[in-house]
Amino acid sequence: MEKIQSAIAKARAERQHVSPTRPLFHHRDYDQDHSETAWAALPLIEPSMKRLRSQRIVTLDRVGEAAAFDKLRTRMLQQMHANNWRRVAITSPGPSSGKSTVSMNLAYSMSRQMKSRVILSELDLRKPSIMKSLRLKTDRDFSKVIQHTSPFADEAVRLKSNFALGVLQRPVEASAEILQNPQLEDTLQQIEADYDPTIMMFDLPPFQVSDDVMAFATKVDCVLIVAAAEQTKIDALDVCERELADVTNILGIVLNKCRYETEDASYNYYG
Ligand SMILES: Nc1ncnc2c1ncn2[C@@H]1O[C@H](COP(=O)(O)OP(=O)(O)O)[C@@H](O)[C@H]1O
Ligand SMILES: [Mg+2]
Repeated sequence: MEKIQSAIAKARAERQHVSPTRPLFHHRDYDQDHSETAWAALPLIEPSMKRLRSQRIVTLDRVGEAAAFDKLRTRMLQQMHANNWRRVAITSPGPSSGKSTVSMNLAYSMSRQMKSRVILSELDLRKPSIMKSLRLKTDRDFSKVIQHTSPFADEAVRLKSNFALGVLQRPVEASAEILQNPQLEDTLQQIEADYDPTIMMFDLPPFQVSDDVMAFATKVDCVLIVAAAEQTKIDALDVCERELADVTNILGIVLNKCRYETEDASYNYYG
């Protein structure tokens, strides 16, 4: 654990802020009534608390383990607000570190702040998991939105009144073509214009698997890296953080799956 912490501190000292290449967003440009109607039209599917807890999603209410995520959420929102950022990607050096679990926990935690509007997009195209883990009963498919064959309004669902989710029905092979397609930026801007979210979260593939993550990282304001304690190698974390820091801002690193829990949870955050 010590080693991971010192590697993180070292990388952080070397890092500088990267300015987003696209224009920053101004909330007042958008029409409040239009976005409220758009949110209300998304079908609401609420997974049971039991189901969520069985998948380690603990932030639907404010008890026990939710505290660590709530702290992380608050720091994220403060930092993003201060910089006028609203797109954040979640990745990890290797697979199965808890990217989707952390993304869902943060999204639920954010949605408990009633003024926030959260959109989470599942973009680990080769390994989607949310549909199955939450047992969502819907045939809506976010892959059609990012392949530009159907609008977000027809393919997204809401898990809470102010939490929209773009979920994948099945693995999509053309991950690189989709995530590296310049047209994707237009689609994201359209979603922002229609839904005026406080935050757009993207549950990305693992960094090491392909260059998809580097390509997509240019489209976000910042990235949160999930490292799995005792699984993620320090060298891999270092490469991941350094390369991403060249194209976007590193919001922080979440150390997940800690065997020795701190007093409030098994999640640690180095922001
Ligand atoms: N803190 C944790 N402790 C134990 N298991 C976890 C933790 N976070 C996630 N997991 C489990 O690890 C597996 C992979 O998590 P997932 O979020 O799907 O990873 P990824 O999206 O990075 O592939 C899932 O079975 C999940 O329930
Ligand atoms: Mg995942």
